Amino acid sequence: MSFDHRKYVAFPPVRKRNRLWPDQVIQKAPTWCAVDLRDGNQALVKPMSVAQKQRLFDLLVKLGFKEIEIGFPAASQPDFEFCRKLIDENRIPGDVTIQVLTQARAELIARTFEALKGASRAVVHVYNSTSTVQREQVFGLDREGIRRIAVSGAEIVRDFAAGYPDTDWTFQYSPESFTGTELDFAVEVIDAVNDVWRPDCGQKVIINLPATVEMSTPNVFADQVEWVCDHIRYREHVSVSVHTHNDRGCAVAAAELAVMAGADRVEGTLMGNGERTGNMDLVTMAMNLYSQGVDPCLDLSGMAEITDVVEACTEIPTHPRHPYAGELVFTAFSGSHQDAIRKCLAQCDEGQAWNVAYLPINPSDVGRRYDEVVRINSQSGKGGVAYVLERDYGISLPRWLQIEFSKLVQKEAERNGGELDSDTIHGLFESCYLQVPEPWRLTSYDLHRDDQGVRAEVRIGGADEVLAGRGLGAVEAVVVAISERFGISVMVETYDEFALGKGTAANALACIRVTADGQASSAAALAEDTASATIQALLSAVARLAPARELPNEAVVGGVALA
Ligand code: KIV
Ligand code: ZN
Repeated sequence: MSFDHRKYVAFPPVRKRNRLWPDQVIQKAPTWCAVDLRDGNQALVKPMSVAQKQRLFDLLVKLGFKEIEIGFPAASQPDFEFCRKLIDENRIPGDVTIQVLTQARAELIARTFEALKGASRAVVHVYNSTSTVQREQVFGLDREGIRRIAVSGAEIVRDFAAGYPDTDWTFQYSPESFTGTELDFAVEVIDAVNDVWRPDCGQKVIINLPATVEMSTPNVFADQVEWVCDHIRYREHVSVSVHTHNDRGCAVAAAELAVMAGADRVEGTLMGNGERTGNMDLVTMAMNLYSQGVDPCLDLSGMAEITDVVEACTEIPTHPRHPYAGELVFTAFSGSHQDAIRKCLAQCDEGQAWNVAYLPINPSDVGRRYDEVVRINSQSGKGGVAYVLERDYGISLPRWLQIEFSKLVQKEAERNGGELDSDTIHGLFESCYLQVPEPWRLTSYDLHRDDQGVRAEVRIGGADEVLAGRGLGAVEAVVVAISERFGISVMVETYDEFALGKGTAANALACIRVTADGQASSAAALAEDTASATIQALLSAVARLAPARELPNEAVVGGVALA
């Protein structure tokens, strides 16, 4: 029995009174640090080339990131070269700070400073592992041994930095595997590092709390962060950062709650690329803020470019359901969703707060079009089908025809097994309703109103067949004409006429449903005027009964004048 939950132990909650974070609301964006070029890169099957790194770096700059971890130059020659390239070729914008990672070891720190020589500003990020499992099983060290590694790393960083006074240095320390570290010990190590760096004396310091492995629910991580913020010395002089991974699928939530718990800064990657299940996704967290009316201080309006560049550099495709960025995330296939979206969009006024069912943001904010919102498959209902016809062809259907036509669309989608594009849906509408069965094409009509109602004369077909009838209104007069001519009793169940907007060749659409001796038939017609559209729709609907009722088509073609 390998699938046995009893071998796992629940993560212990933080015994904490007076937690404040649950009542906090995020009102401003944290400082972002993109670690795609370091943590993200370390997780790739094929690490990025220098050219790919440059492309991703340029994108991060364009999006507005001011802090970018560009690599681990002491551990990787391409990372070293990329760092040198950025500095030597003056490719770092004045408002952007590069960050590099190093272990807390003298020779690696020395090489790190070599990589950074000549930089006008940089963050040196030093880390060592502090968790119980790493102490006991990986390093075979006690707390004191681990604390000494951190302190020695901090001292070496401080001393090297002093040798490069022209660079504006920020020091960053990460107790790696923080989530598996006893909180009192994490604080002890952080305090010891800060005692070396003395942020209270002007040295800029970032204390980064990594969920190297996500081990608990996000609320427990928030407790851990709040606990550290409450207990470390020099709190007001340091920037507290979080760096969450996504092992439980909650990296974004954990970072959000951590910001509520006091974190000033968040590290992550675009689209969440990173070790195992990934790093915290910067796109999702920033867009979450945006959707709450908070300026994310990043420009993510060109989502297609973001996914293109990330895909090209990581060689990882974007999941179609990826929040805010996936191909399908602004798409509704389900009928009731389509209906709701269509209604909300119709009422959505510019300048008003966004309030559209099923769409947390306006897709156009991230370069997506409304057109993509409603797509049709066998799950779609009348609303979606109607929306597509209206959106792409200016054809608005009455409700009864939406219901009727959507059943045909559903059948077709089931037959074809997938999605139906707008052309196919229009083609289906054309063949089922709009196409005029020859020779029932209206050639001309005359309507004369007098005190007894309307007399209609309708010419159809290539020849001069004229149908004539009298009724209270035009429709009734034509019905009488058809009924008398062909000896059937036609009844109009319902009909609707619409004036069409600009952009279509026709000016009017008519939709009609008739019955004749228990048989029902519907048709629609587009024409220059509403009377032509209605008469044609009526003729087409009757003609569609022809196969069943064996209407005398030939007789009509024969062109006998009946007037
Ligand atoms: O996940 C992690 O712990 C890291 C550290 C080096 C910050 O990437
Ligand atoms: Zn990491």
